[in-house]
Parts: sequence; C-alpha cells; structure tokens
Amino acid sequence: MERIEVGTVGDLDEKSVLRLSLPDGRAVTVAVLADGEYAAFEGLCPHKGAPITEGRICEDVVICPWHAFRFDLRSGEPVGTPSIMKLSVLPVTVESDRIFVTITK
Ligand code: FES
Repeated sequence: MERIEVGTVGDLDEKSVLRLSLPDGRAVTVAVLADGEYAAFEGLCPHKGAPITEGRICEDVVICPWHAFRFDLRSGEPVGTPSIMKLSVLPVTVESDRIFVTITK
C-alpha cells in the first residue's frame, strides 16, 4: 500500500473532480461527496472494462460512460444492478488541507 498526495482541499469543490494518472499508468478520480467527504476510485468498470474514472458523478455515484451502470462512491457497490462486481474504491485522507489516496501496488 502506498499513500499518494493528489491535491489540496482548494483544488476540489462539490462541482469538480480530480482526474489523475498515476506513475504506473492507472487512472484515479477523486470527488467530493454530498456531505463534504472525499471519495476516490480507480481502474476499469467491473462490467465490461470501460474507463470508469471518466464517468459522470452525480449524487455520490459514478455513472459508467459505456452502459450507464451506477456505483456508490463510498462502498463501490453497484446501485440498481446487484449482479455485477464492485468498483475499486480507494481510502482518502486529508491532512492540513492536503488530500491523500491510498493505493495498492
Ligand atoms: S462497461 Fe461499465 S456499465 Fe458496461
């Protein structure tokens, strides 16, 4: 596990997201949830491999750009499509206005 600094609190508000590319090529998206907490997720959609980090975020879910499946940004659980796998969500911490995401190597 590795903790990576992805930005500062001032980089994000409830209407914006941070889309990052890690040194190993993985894509990560960080978003602000309705309650002001942060959520992060990575990788490809567990349905058919769409670039889920490019998905639209609405009401604490991300909507896959290919088939519009929805995933809860806190748990990674699918919303309304219980038969598919979970989205890979990442722990987020904030220290002195700096935002960190913990990734697995
Ligand atoms: S690839 Fe994401 S819903 Fe199909």
